[in-house]
This record gives sequence, C-alpha cells and structure tokens, in this order.
Amino acid sequence: MKLTSIVATLIAAATAVSAAPYTKPQPKLPQVVTNCVKPNTIAITFDDGPYNYTLSILSQLKAANVKATWFMNGHAYSCIYNSTWSSNAYAVYKAGHQVASHTWSHPNLTTVDLPRLNYEVTKQEDALAKVVGVRPTFIRPPFGSYNETVLKVFAEHGYSHVVLWGVFGDNGADLATWKNNYDTVDTSKPLIALNHDPRQLTVTELVSTFFIFVCHFLISTSNVVMQQLPYILQWVKKHNFKMVTVGECLGVPKNKWYKWTGSPSKRDKTWTCANTPRRDPIPHGVGY
Ligand SMILES: *[C@@H]1O[C@H](CO)[C@@H](O)[C@H](O)[C@H]1NC(C)=O
Ligand SMILES: *[C@@H]1O[C@H](CO)[C@@H](O)[C@H](O)[C@H]1NC(C)=O
Ligand SMILES: *[C@@H]1O[C@H](CO)[C@@H](O)[C@H](O)[C@H]1NC(C)=O
Ligand SMILES: *[C@@H]1O[C@H](CO)[C@@H](O)[C@H](O)[C@H]1NC(C)=O
Repeated sequence: MKLTSIVATLIAAATAVSAAPYTKPQPKLPQVVTNCVKPNTIAITFDDGPYNYTLSILSQLKAANVKATWFMNGHAYSCIYNSTWSSNAYAVYKAGHQVASHTWSHPNLTTVDLPRLNYEVTKQEDALAKVVGVRPTFIRPPFGSYNETVLKVFAEHGYSHVVLWGVFGDNGADLATWKNNYDTVDTSKPLIALNHDPRQLTVTELVSTFFIFVCHFLISTSNVVMQQLPYILQWVKKHNFKMVTVGECLGVPKNKWYKWTGSPSKRDKTWTCANTPRRDPIPHGVGY
C-alpha cells in the first residue's frame, strides 16, 4: 500500500472513531444481595453504630467465637469522631469483624439530590478510613432504600456489594415480632439478618452467653425476659448455622471487602461532626 493511501486510511479510521458518539465507560453496578450464598451460613449484621452497646455486643460475640458485619454511620445516634465511638469502631475491626458503610447520616438515599448522595457516601468512607483504617466495598443503604441512581453512585465510589437482609431482627421493644421473624424464616437457606447496634435490648447479660456457649445451657424459648443477642446466638446454634461475616457467607475473599486498608490516622481538626447533617429523628422505638 502506498504511503498516501495508508494516511488516507488512517484519517478515515480516525474520523470514523471520532464521529462515534462518546460514551463514558460505566463502572459495573454493585451486586444487590438479600441473603447469603454459602450453605449453612448466617451473617448477623449490626446497623447504625458505633454506640453505647458496641463493646458488650463485641464481647458476647467473642465469647461465642463468631464474627459479624457492622454497617456503621458517622452521624446518626452519635458522632463517629467522638473518641469513645471512634475507639469502639476500631475495636470492631480489630476483633476481626467486617466493617462496612451505612452512609454518613442515614437519609433515605432515593429522596436526596445527587450532591448529597455523593456526600453521604464519601463523608462516611473518609470517616471509616480515618477512624478504622478501611475503605469498604460493602454498603447498606439506610432503610434498604435505593434506586438505579443510587447504585450508579455506589459503583462510581467502588462499592461491589449492596447488602439488604432476609431476616428482620429489630429492637427488643417488640420481642414477639422479631422473634417471630427469626422463627418463621426458611432455615434451609443461608441468611443475612438485620439487627441494630444502638438498641439496648440488642445486648444482654454476659452470663447468659457464658451459659449458652460454655456450659451448653439452652435458655427456654418461653423465657419472656430473654433479650435479643443471646436468643439469636442460641437460635443460630439450634439451627446448626455457621455464623460468619457477609463477605464470607457470599464467598468474597477478605482482601475484597475493602478497597483500601491501612492504619487509623491521627486525630486532627477534621475529626468533627460539626456543621454536618445528622440523622433526625433518632428512632428510639421500632425502626431501621
Ligand atoms: C448512650 O450515649 C448517649 C450519648 O450519645 C448518652 O447520652 C446516654 O446516656 C448513653 N446511654 C447509656 C445507656 O449509656
Ligand atoms: C462527643 O463527646 C463530647 C465530649 O465528650 C460530648 O459533649 C458530645 O455530646 C459527644 N457527641 C456525641 C454525638 O456523642
Ligand atoms: C433516585 O435517587 C436519586 C438520588 O437520590 C434521585 O435524585 C432520583 O430522583 C431518584 N429517581 C427515581 C426515579 O426515584
Ligand atoms: C424512601 O423514599 C422513597 C421515595 O420517596 C419511598 O418510596 C420509600 O418508601 C422511602 N423509604 C422509607 C423507608 O421511608
């Protein structure tokens, strides 16, 4: 081929390319999951912390030798940068649990504008990077509410999994309802269960856990004062579930639970919730 015709061909090719409409490459949408995949697994999840009860929940899980997944907020019940809560958040990660995002201030993401949606994702991710030393790839939208736009924004921020739930274990105010939610679920399938960190009734006396797991003592299911976590732990055991993190129950390797891991940074003037949105109202009754 002559040089001139090569040039002509190249020009034609270039023109053809530039004439094609430009489409920005779209990141792959995250996978939306409501239940686990690995047989016989259950992933217990705790939303809305860190808060007052985080450390007791942690010690009970430790006594039972099981791991859970924590979808944390920055400014909902508390401010994650407050030294008590920041150290509780880090304690969760250090104990080997999975830490994931639940947005900064727990809004319904389908009702906010695009700048706020991006803010809710990045503000929380930066907080988890500073306080815990991770940037997660797992996120749970508040109230489980999302739409196509929300998924696209999650994808743009590198989230691979949107985690909903298959069992709704709510606060202890209505013990009958949440127990019924557990007791009527199809236990032949692996499960993701939703619970709340900031609810007092999520926790119970360590002594019960001690009896369940050390002395193999089964609490009677008719015990009306029984509180949530020991009931769940006993239920998990009774149904022969292996209690693991969401990442593990989905078969996602640990190095994919986070886009980045490092060390928590040193407290500085950016560790504040001042002038940022906060969850309002804080639901002290039944809610998400
Ligand atoms: C939980 O923390 C809040 C501060 O955010 C405090 O006012 C409240 O008294 C605490 N509750 C318990 C039971 O410790
Ligand atoms: C954080 O800590 C400060 C100082 O101890 C306290 O006054 C404030 O109420 C706390 N904020 C939250 C949201 O827990
Ligand atoms: C989906 O959510 C986005 C972001 O919050 C919002 O702006 C948009 O109006 C919603 N779209 C639909 C179809 O509801
Ligand atoms: C979130 O907002 C959407 C759109 O307005 C609404 O359909 C949905 O019920 C809301 N979710 C909750 C839990 O309020």
